[in-house]
Amino acid sequence: MRRPLVAGNWKMHGTRASVAELIKGLRQLALPVGVEIAVMPPSLYLHQVVMGLEGKAIAVGAQNCAVEPMQGALTGEIAASQLADAGCSMVLIGHSERRQVLGETDAMLTRKFAAAQSCGLMPVLCVGETLEQREAGLTLEVVARQLGSVIEQMGVGAFSRAVVAYEPVWAIGTGLTASPEQAQEVHAAIRAQLRAESAEVARGVRILYGGSVKAANAVELFGMADIDGGLIGGASLNAEEFGAICRAA
Ligand code: G3P
Repeated sequence: MRRPLVAGNWKMHGTRASVAELIKGLRQLALPVGVEIAVMPPSLYLHQVVMGLEGKAIAVGAQNCAVEPMQGALTGEIAASQLADAGCSMVLIGHSERRQVLGETDAMLTRKFAAAQSCGLMPVLCVGETLEQREAGLTLEVVARQLGSVIEQMGVGAFSRAVVAYEPVWAIGTGLTASPEQAQEVHAAIRAQLRAESAEVARGVRILYGGSVKAANAVELFGMADIDGGLIGGASLNAEEFGAICRAA
């Protein structure tokens, strides 16, 4: 049985004051038993969040890491080793906003995936198609390519210590949520791709859905056979809404 995971991706939102408020709200949440919960603040606020959530069963993750695992001469970047040192347990790899806006390639993301795992962080590999790709019937091909590039380099066994997040780009921040059936179709294809290499890994890997998840749609989404939780954007900036989504998992 896979333990559900609900992770809040705060993206590039927050100030010291708003982060303090959000921490206060998160600390007041009655958390569901049996659900792994994490928040991913902007790197600038990692220490504040780690310290602020001390003793609360909410893990802290990062939204990105450098291609190099260890500290060194890479201006402006943050090494996975430094994220681990700061108290992170997981890190997003290849969020579509980074693929689209910053041009992160599958090759670069595989290096980041490896860097994260080499420092004991759990990578959350983000995959997903654009609206144009979906409308062209390329969804499964795009997702298979994104996932396959990591499997080829790292081996399927690496996914026994990783999570996959399916985030249709057209559903991110738009209020346009994929239907449970649309999401399940892609999640099942992701699991089948992993199963072709290892039935054990495929059985154990958690596949999260992300893209306009709200308390109102979370129960139906999380009830699908191959949806093991969510990667939550906007709704994770409101502690009560995020708590309701966690309780739906
Ligand atoms: O990483 C999660 C994010 O991309 C989803 O954003 O605002 O649609 O929940 P949102």
